[in-house]
Amino acid sequence: MITVEDLSYSVLKNITFHVPRGMLVAIIGPNGAGKSTLLKIIGGLIKDYKGKVKVNAKIKFYLSQHLPKELPGLNSEVILTGLEKSSFYDIDKKEWGKAREYLSLLGLKEKPYDEQSGGEKQKTLLARALISDAELLLLDEPFSALDVKSSNVVYKLLKDYVKKGKTALVVTHDLSMVSKYVDRVICLGGKEFLTCHVDEFNLDTIVKLYGEDFKVIHHVH
Ligand SMILES: Nc1ncnc2c1ncn2[C@@H]1O[C@H](COP(=O)(O)OP(=O)(O)O)[C@@H](O)[C@H]1O
Ligand SMILES: [Mg+2]
Repeated sequence: MITVEDLSYSVLKNITFHVPRGMLVAIIGPNGAGKSTLLKIIGGLIKDYKGKVKVNAKIKFYLSQHLPKELPGLNSEVILTGLEKSSFYDIDKKEWGKAREYLSLLGLKEKPYDEQSGGEKQKTLLARALISDAELLLLDEPFSALDVKSSNVVYKLLKDYVKKGKTALVVTHDLSMVSKYVDRVICLGGKEFLTCHVDEFNLDTIVKLYGEDFKVIHHVH
């Protein structure tokens, strides 16, 4: 689905990886590592890079790290704009039902988008991404304002999404969620560029990425 060969742009240097269809992939790394930049290149928003980037998806849905504070309309209406229909009259009963289902799954109320907290707005926009049914979702820090329960719900929805043969790339800082849910990890900004299956994602990987001062807290259950 995505082939990147010897990609260089700004802080990204000689990056090569392949993402097959049906995968939930996390992009991790310190601030300024180039995570947002990589997502924008894959989404076609930056074009003057060096190297080869091939994305085999007709419809891509990109959710920026910077969320709009204001959008006109009620939650379900904002969600349904993800279908990219020219008029609300073209939206059928089933689609309205799906929007309401997302509201309920994410614990949102039917109210104006603007009258919500940052985390609630983020959930509305995530539902908008999910309803799009795009072949490729590119989500930049979509969990940054979500509570743990909501993050779990969204990760489960994303797992179901990729089971349909679609692909999702998510930029995140939450490493515990990465080990719990994703299939592959792309690590940027470390001593070396790494891409691995989540089973190979361990303390060594994290130390290579963030340095020796990364502390591990052992939980006793
Ligand atoms: N709008 C911009 N103008 C100039 N440089 C930028 C811009 N956005 C990002 N950069 C540069 O690219 C680097 C990577 O940024 P970014 O991809 O946003 O990192 P991340 O998402 O990993 O925090 C930054 O450290 C910065 O030097
Ligand atoms: Mg970023």
